[in-house]
Amino acid sequence: MRKPIIIGNWKMNMSLKGGLSFLSKLEKNVNEKIEVGIAVQSVSLVDMISHSNNVLIGAQNCFYEDAGPYTGEISPVLLKEIKTKFCIVGHSERRALFNETNEMVNKKACKLLDNNITPVICVGEMFEQHEKKQTKETIKKQIKECCQDLKVENCIIAYEPVWAIGTGETPRLDEIQAIGALIRSELTKMYSAKQAGQVRIQYGGSVSEENIKQLLELEDIDGALVGGASLKIKSFSKLISA
Ligand code: PGA
Repeated sequence: MRKPIIIGNWKMNMSLKGGLSFLSKLEKNVNEKIEVGIAVQSVSLVDMISHSNNVLIGAQNCFYEDAGPYTGEISPVLLKEIKTKFCIVGHSERRALFNETNEMVNKKACKLLDNNITPVICVGEMFEQHEKKQTKETIKKQIKECCQDLKVENCIIAYEPVWAIGTGETPRLDEIQAIGALIRSELTKMYSAKQAGQVRIQYGGSVSEENIKQLLELEDIDGALVGGASLKIKSFSKLISA
């Protein structure tokens, strides 16, 4: 059985003080049925982790080397030292604004696993690819390149159509399930049915308290990566209890 996991991605939002107050309220709303996490800015990690109990605190990015002359980067070894639970890699904003490639995503995921941190590997098609009906081949390529040579059963994959992020639009439920199943079948080819069956696949892109329940009912969707709706304690609490 795959336990559903809902992660709020705060992106470059939320003050440290605001985050700590949010966390203390959120902790009271977490139940045993699902795992709940928040991906915070790296500056907030230490404090948020030291105040967390039931909520998993994660990072939004890291580098693929342990240490060295990489000014401004985040070391996966330090993330481990401060007990970071998970780290998002390959979010579409990192791909678009910071030129993160599938190869880099793969290297980052490897490093995170070496440090016992769960990588949340994001994949998803752009609007043009969606329009040209190239979604399946796009996802296949991303999975092949991002997920090679990993202990894949310890990873989370987030399927996030880029055109659905922050737009209020989502694919139909049957389309989301089809991509969830496609990701699992690609991972089965690369690894084994057993390993692929253990991977949790999240959907992300305009997830809200209105659509979360139906999303979690999909066979191959085991959680959600939530942006906008994770920034208000009311909406995020409703979402995780739905
Ligand atoms: P959204 O963002 O929920 O605001 O669409 C999702 C994400 O970027 O992970």
